[in-house]
Parts: sequence; structure tokens; C-alpha cells
Amino acid sequence: MENNNDLSALYHLISKIVRERSSKRNFLSDDVSIDILKDIIKDASRAPSGTNTQPWKVTCVTGETKKKLTNAVLEAAETGDATLEYEYMPPKLKEPYMSRKRAVGYALYELYGIERDDYPARKAAMLRNFEFFGAPVGLFFRMDRELLYGSWLDVGMFMQNIMILARGKGLETCPQQAWCEFGPIVHRVLGIPNDEIIISGMSIGYASKARENTLVSERMPLDDFTTFLN
Ligand SMILES: Cc1cc2nc3c(=O)[nH]c(=O)nc-3n(C[C@H](O)[C@H](O)[C@H](O)COP(=O)(O)O)c2cc1C
Repeated sequence: MENNNDLSALYHLISKIVRERSSKRNFLSDDVSIDILKDIIKDASRAPSGTNTQPWKVTCVTGETKKKLTNAVLEAAETGDATLEYEYMPPKLKEPYMSRKRAVGYALYELYGIERDDYPARKAAMLRNFEFFGAPVGLFFRMDRELLYGSWLDVGMFMQNIMILARGKGLETCPQQAWCEFGPIVHRVLGIPNDEIIISGMSIGYASKARENTLVSERMPLDDFTTFLN
């Protein structure tokens, strides 16, 4: 067994990476090496999964394919041609979730320098999703459409591993459900069959020093979401 000093150093390191990860929304165009991506994806696949089913599938997009996808989705966004891959949230978000959603949105607009009622500027900021916020690499997480809730958990854990491991390579990420608003286009451009569901996209790259990247989103105090029973 590891000694206590090793464990405390390990905890310190892991907790630092977990605490300091945040979604970045402005990336440098610097390339990310394919070997680094492969290391991260391979190590992330040590994620647990129910009965070791390993339901995750990944599509990694760069270069011309990435451009093609960006153009196709931006064109559809312009014409209002959105088709949801799946409902992420209930149509009417109740409290306290709605307030939390608003709070992070307003905090982000403030960093962008966008007034709350400047809807065209808000839309332009949202559309940056479809340029992967300038990142050179986009990841898409898919799984067999027939699988159920448990497998969604598994893919989520795999995604979290990617986000944490990326930090160890100096990379940053932004998970992006926004792509799922244009499900059929992502399927078509990336050749993803319809018996697979696209769970999320993700930008990955080296972060710029843009103000929006300084956002530290709020978290509830421990006692607000944890019950200790004895
Ligand atoms: C599955 C998932 C999908 C998300 N989709 C988007 C997205 O489409 N665009 C975006 O800017 N942020 C997206 N986010 C990032 C969240 O807004 C972010 O995680 C949350 O505000 C907490 O901030 P933090 O990641 O910086 O801690 C997503 C996060 C998750 C977990």
C-alpha cells in the first residue's frame, strides 16, 4: 500500500486538477498532437461502466471535416433548422435549477462584455460553440441508441476522465451539448449511423487568455446537497 505521504500528495494533486478544471470558451489555434489525444482517450477508457459494457464511442474531428461540420451547423442555425438529438433538460426548468442556469449565463455575458438584453450579441456568443470556440479538435461522444440510463452514466464518467486527463497535458476542454441541437447534421457530416446517439460534443485544445476563460462557476455548499446518516 502507498504510504501516507504519497497518498496525501496524490490527493492534493487530484483535488487540485478537479477543483481547477473549468469549461473554457476561447482556444488558441495551436494543434494538439494525435499521440496526446490517443493517450488521453485510452487512459479515459479506464472509466468504470456497468458490468464493464464500455458503451462509449468517440469521434475526433480536425481539419477539413471540422470545417465542414462548422459550416453545415452554422448554416442550419442561420435558417433555424434545429433538430434535437435528445432532450437534455425538461422544457420548463424548475427552481433552483433555473436560477443556477441564469447565474452562469449572466456571469459569462459579463465577461464577454455583453449586456443581458443584447440578444444578437448573446446569439453570436452561443454560435461560437459551433466553431469549437476556436479549438483545433472536437470530440463527439456516442453510444448505441438502444442502451439505457446506466450507460449514459458510464459515458459521463468517461467524459469526465477526458476532461481531467486533458489538464495533465496542459489542455483545456468545454463539454458541448449544443451540438445535439443539430443532431441529424452531425450524424450526416460525421457519418454516424442512426442506431447510435450523440451524447455530447467537446472542444479540446490550449486555452487563450480571453476574459471568458476566467469564469469560475458557483457551487453549492456541501451541506446543501449532502445528507449524512448514521
Ligand atoms: C454535458 C454537458 C454539456 C455542456 N454543454 C455546453 C455547451 O453546449 N456550451 C457551453 O458553452 N457549455 C456547455 N457545458 C458547460 C457548462 O455550462 C459548465 O460545465 C457549467 O456551467 C459549470 O462550469 P464549469 O464547467 O466551468 O465548472 C456543458 C456541460 C456539460 C456537463
